[in-house]
Amino acid sequence: MKPLILINFKTYPEALGKDGVLFARKLAVVRTKKYEIALSPSLLTLPLLSIQPSFPFFAQHVDPFEPGAHTGSISPEELKALGVRGTILNHSEKKVSFSMLKATIRRCQKVRLQMVLCAATPLEAKKLLPLKPDYLAYEPKGLIGGNISVTKARPAIITTVVELSQKISPETKVLCGAGVHSREDVQRALELGCHGVLLSHAVVLAKNPQKFLQELVS
Ligand code: G3P
Repeated sequence: MKPLILINFKTYPEALGKDGVLFARKLAVVRTKKYEIALSPSLLTLPLLSIQPSFPFFAQHVDPFEPGAHTGSISPEELKALGVRGTILNHSEKKVSFSMLKATIRRCQKVRLQMVLCAATPLEAKKLLPLKPDYLAYEPKGLIGGNISVTKARPAIITTVVELSQKISPETKVLCGAGVHSREDVQRALELGCHGVLLSHAVVLAKNPQKFLQELVS
């Protein structure tokens, strides 16, 4: 299984709606033998992209509710019907209570939607790993959106999270994210035991996103 490069579009205007479709088209010409590239568009942009599946897609959030009387919610079944592979959950910009996390993961496992569960600290990772997510993404909040990569600023903590994962939930793959912006950052993440990275602004706000991503995955 190739390491995963998961690009989170967040709600950057450059990657929303029709611009999001054009943006994804640009990224679709990027070639790599080393990595699997997946996209996480906003929940409203996701259906526009998933009809032309050049990538695996992950939603940015999901709720634990069954389809039915739950106004304003996104059900795992609705995501599954769009053909998406999985979802991010508990991102630092979209925190979820522990009881909701437990319920949501159970529901996603039932419909076979992969889970990228985010943790901002090793302590949080320790609490979340018993839920046995497919991926645990370590993203220290203070580095998100900046230009200092988590792989340079927190290598020892990445190792700690990888060790915790091996001990508590060996099937879970660890990703790291925050400030990742170069091929070296991605390689370092793999050396530290991660199965890939999450990144956002370095790609979405790049002058030439296609060229930037091609360099990152070469
Ligand atoms: O989910 C990815 C993310 O939070 C990292 O953001 O902009 O630091 O790559 P960024």
